[in-house]
This record gives sequence, structure tokens and C-alpha cells, in this order.
Amino acid sequence: MQTIGLIGAGHIGSQVARLAVRNGYDVVISNSRGPETLAGLVSELGSRARAATPQEAARAGDIVVVTVPLKNYRQVPVEPLAGKLVIDTNNYYPQRDGNIPELDNESATTSELLQAHLKTSKVVKGFNHIYAADLTTHGQPAGTKNRRALAIFGNDAEAKRTVSRLLDQFGFDTVDGGPLGESWRIQRDTPGYGPRRNAEELRKDLAAAGRYKERASGA
Ligand SMILES: NC(=O)c1ccc[n+]([C@@H]2O[C@H](COP(=O)([O-])OP(=O)(O)OC[C@H]3O[C@@H](n4cnc5c(N)ncnc54)[C@H](OP(=O)(O)O)[C@@H]3O)[C@@H](O)[C@H]2O)c1
Repeated sequence: MQTIGLIGAGHIGSQVARLAVRNGYDVVISNSRGPETLAGLVSELGSRARAATPQEAARAGDIVVVTVPLKNYRQVPVEPLAGKLVIDTNNYYPQRDGNIPELDNESATTSELLQAHLKTSKVVKGFNHIYAADLTTHGQPAGTKNRRALAIFGNDAEAKRTVSRLLDQFGFDTVDGGPLGESWRIQRDTPGYGPRRNAEELRKDLAAAGRYKERASGA
């Protein structure tokens, strides 16, 4: 696991790339407008980084992070990600993404949509509930008291272990919230979405989370 591919190099993608380079990984970053538009970020990241097309970043990555506006998830290349571990940072904002019926009626989670698109990839939800700026400032060494924790969800136990090790290197504890179908527990407007939480606090937040429809009915 030496190369991290990034599909999306905006707020979150650029920050994950910084963490990756800091921790000795090579990164291949991509966006929608073409590698030449990423020259500034590549120059900042240094010799471990290069820019490529999304197809190439997907092919090059041992782990690939999908971090695009959710409305574009169907544009994520499928074939080069076959069988690979894919980290999904995406959140649903209807005003940005348009209305997606399965998310509005909560019959699926954002990560289940990505998993359905990337049928043979091992999708793990991660990095979706931390502000981009906090990624490079909130990390602390393993064992630090009150260390910040990040939630992961996924259907593949080994993939989740790998992401947990990566997060530990990046400075965070991990709380495994279960399969992708449970990842609504850390979606927009849930208690754990945004604030700094240690592992114990985050577990409580995940347990206390409610569905949008429960909140709308006041349940
Ligand atoms: N911002 C946060 O603090 C935060 C925190 C947690 C999770 N998230 C979620 O993470 C995702 C990314 O958020 P962000 O704030 O990083 O967004 P952003 O700053 O708008 O960056 C989005 C990136 O995705 C690229 N992109 C768009 N369509 C693409 C495509 N079809 N193929 C390849 N790349 C594509 C964009 O490239 P171009 O610029 O070339 O179009 C850009 O590099 C969103 O789902 C967001 O809700 C954000």
C-alpha cells in the first residue's frame, strides 16, 4: 500500500494528499478539469506527487479516495477500481447535488450508491464528517489522551482494517460504525457530523443519530 490515488483534489482531496505525502505515501491526484490545472498543488506536495486523469489516478492507487461532489459519483471510473479499496468521503447536499430519490427517502446511503456503481470495489466511508481544514491540524500521535476519532463504515472487514491503520498514521483513532447501510449515522446534520470527538464521544453520537424522517416528524 504505497500509492494513494485521489479522484477529486478540492478541499478534502488536497488535504488527504497532504496527509498522505507527510506520511510517506506517493499520491496521484486528479480532478475534472485536467492534470495541468493541478500544477500548483503538485508543486506544493513535492516529488511524491503527480497529477493525472481520474482513470490514471484510479489505476495507480493501491487505495483510491473518491472525493467529488456527490452529484458526479457516476462519473467515477469503474474498471480501474475493480477489486480495489475505495474510500468515499462524499456527503449529500440536495442544493448542490440535486435531489436523489434513494437518499431523500433514505432507502440507501451515499456510500451504498457509490458501492452499487463500483460493484467489485471495497468501498469504505471515511473522512466525511471532518472539516477539510481540520484534517491537517487535528491529528495527534497514537495513544494521545482524548485523541480525535473518525468514523468508518464498510462491508469488508479487511478493507476497514486497512483504512483504520491509515487513519492511525494520519493521526486519528477510528470508530467502526458497521456496514455501509449504517453510514447514515454520520450523515449531514447528525450529532457527530463536524465537531471534534474522541472515540467514546463519537460512539455515543453514532448511537444517538436519527433518520431525517424521524426528525421531521419530531420522533
Ligand atoms: N469540504 C469539506 O470540509 C468536506 C468535509 C467532509 C466531506 N466533504 C465531502 O467530500 C466531497 C468533496 O468535497 P470538497 O469540499 O473537497 O469539494 P470541492 O472542494 O468542490 O472539490 C471537488 C473536487 O472534485 C473534482 N471533481 C468534480 N467532478 C469530478 C469528476 N467527475 N471526476 C474527477 N474529479 C471531479 C473537482 O475538480 P474540478 O475542480 O476540476 O471540477 C474538485 O477537485 C463532497 O462530497 C463533500 O460533501 C467535504
